[in-house]
Amino acid sequence: MDEKKAEELIRRLAAALRGTELYSATHPLVQRGVDSLTAAAHEGLQRTPTVIIGFLGDEVVVDGTRLPKSTASLIGFARDLRDRGIEKVTLNRGLSRAEVVGLIAAFSDRASPVPLADRLIARGVRNVTLGRIVVDEVSDDEAGIAAARRVYGTAVETAEMLWNAAQAGDLPDPGAARKIIDGLARLVTQDRTSLMALTALKKYDNYTFTHMVNVSALAMAQARALNIDGPLLREFGFAALMHDIGKVHTPLEVLNKPGKLSKDEFDVMKRHVVDGAHILRRTPEMPALAPIVAFEHHLKQDLSGYPENIGDRKLNLCTMIVSIADVFDALRSNRPYRQGLATVRIRSIMSEQDNPAFNQVLLKRFVNLMGLFPVGNLVRLNTGEIAVVTAEHPTDPFRPQVKIIMDTDGGMLEEPVLANTWERDGRGEHPHAVVEAVDPESTDIDPLTYL
Ligand SMILES: [Fe+2]
Ligand SMILES: [Fe+2]
Repeated sequence: MDEKKAEELIRRLAAALRGTELYSATHPLVQRGVDSLTAAAHEGLQRTPTVIIGFLGDEVVVDGTRLPKSTASLIGFARDLRDRGIEKVTLNRGLSRAEVVGLIAAFSDRASPVPLADRLIARGVRNVTLGRIVVDEVSDDEAGIAAARRVYGTAVETAEMLWNAAQAGDLPDPGAARKIIDGLARLVTQDRTSLMALTALKKYDNYTFTHMVNVSALAMAQARALNIDGPLLREFGFAALMHDIGKVHTPLEVLNKPGKLSKDEFDVMKRHVVDGAHILRRTPEMPALAPIVAFEHHLKQDLSGYPENIGDRKLNLCTMIVSIADVFDALRSNRPYRQGLATVRIRSIMSEQDNPAFNQVLLKRFVNLMGLFPVGNLVRLNTGEIAVVTAEHPTDPFRPQVKIIMDTDGGMLEEPVLANTWERDGRGEHPHAVVEAVDPESTDIDPLTYL
């Protein structure tokens, strides 16, 4: 989009929002504002499937182009959105006038305690998404968790692009997908600890895209532990990344429904495996494994699950690895209808006796790979202190090395204290023992800063 058109789009967006604060929704001025905003958005979306509007400081950036020094009213608009936690607004092709009405209405309702993104969904607005910007502030020579964070952040952003393209009916760009996979594959090989810690974060609000990246990372970690490397490792990563891409056709009411799905809704949901296989088969340069995994990932070892009536077949190794990563990440994430579960709970759910959902050998290996208390997890000790897991014990997964960061009274320690929970005192007892995992969300602590 050229600069003039971009500026015009933003001006109309700001004007439409201002209009609703002054007049009722039915007022002709508001209606006209909606019309002209819809027209500008449609024009912009003719050429690209998505238009991304970002707010950085006082500046507005449209599709990567910084708008020239803005007027006072635009600065006010950018600040207002930023104050409400919105750094990015993505418009997708297919945006309807009704959705623009919903967008404007959701924005102007300032009293609602419900997060804006959820109100958009509630109003049926599916072609506008809100988010935060992952800023590249880390230099290339930085190593460890900071570098991993950058790779991970870029991967999530790229996953969103792939998703939007597929949703608009365009083919996902395999070049962009390959970039994600290369970055993640490097991390899996060189810094698995940081990558696994990142997949354990729950603070990301964008489940769809973090899920894609997490499943890809968790699948590649498993594959790497099976000594799979090189191009095949990347194919596994690719297939895992795209396993749910068929959900671009699943209506949001079904996708985000808080309660249990009805029989009809579940039937609609089940289609994503076939839809995904179709999309991926059409995408050039997509490894042959990708449509197979999309098709198979809800089948269990005994071929129950879905799609139904597929005859006799042997599930692909990659499918079995992906379905473990898929269920693990889904249970661990915060969803609109429940909090993410702690690793220990997930383990017990997934390893229930004779669960046909997973290959038992692969599942055991996965559990060992992740450790009982993975590095980067927050844990509570028997002393009441809170600590971050910094290293796993080579043989006893219950007794990791930790850094104590919070004392018994909930005060943060100025100097975190390293403790080996496997060590015994003079009486042969463990002075520090891990009692349970703690959800970092409930504490305001970012455990990764302690690694
Ligand atoms: Fe799925
Ligand atoms: Fe999934």
